[in-house]
Amino acid sequence: MIRVRLRAGDQVHEIEAAEGESLLAAALRQGVQIDHACGGVCACSTCHVKVKAGADALSEPSEDELDQLDEARDVGLDSRLSCQARIVRPPKGGVIEAVIPTWTVTLVCEGGRDGQPPTA
Ligand code: FES
Repeated sequence: MIRVRLRAGDQVHEIEAAEGESLLAAALRQGVQIDHACGGVCACSTCHVKVKAGADALSEPSEDELDQLDEARDVGLDSRLSCQARIVRPPKGGVIEAVIPTWTVTLVCEGGRDGQPPTA
């Protein structure tokens, strides 16, 4: 399993993820809420996170993901859609660290409130 540290405001969540799993699926599986209005099918930008460490462990963003990120607020070079960012190898630094933007933390989240991963 791969260590993932998720920061949301002043909260820090330490979770584990499997290779092949998306950051969103790993977070939801362990009770960490990230908004995901489209259910994880790359049709919104509510699952936007900023990857601060361990980006080398993640899949490359697709053109569809980059197009959706254009709709996200406060996008940076470290921005990813957590439903699309899949873990493809262990991170060189030993941990993947991502920040969940605070404005998405309190938005309505469709599905996943029961801790179930998205269907995609
Ligand atoms: S949940 Fe909609 S793009 Fe990730």
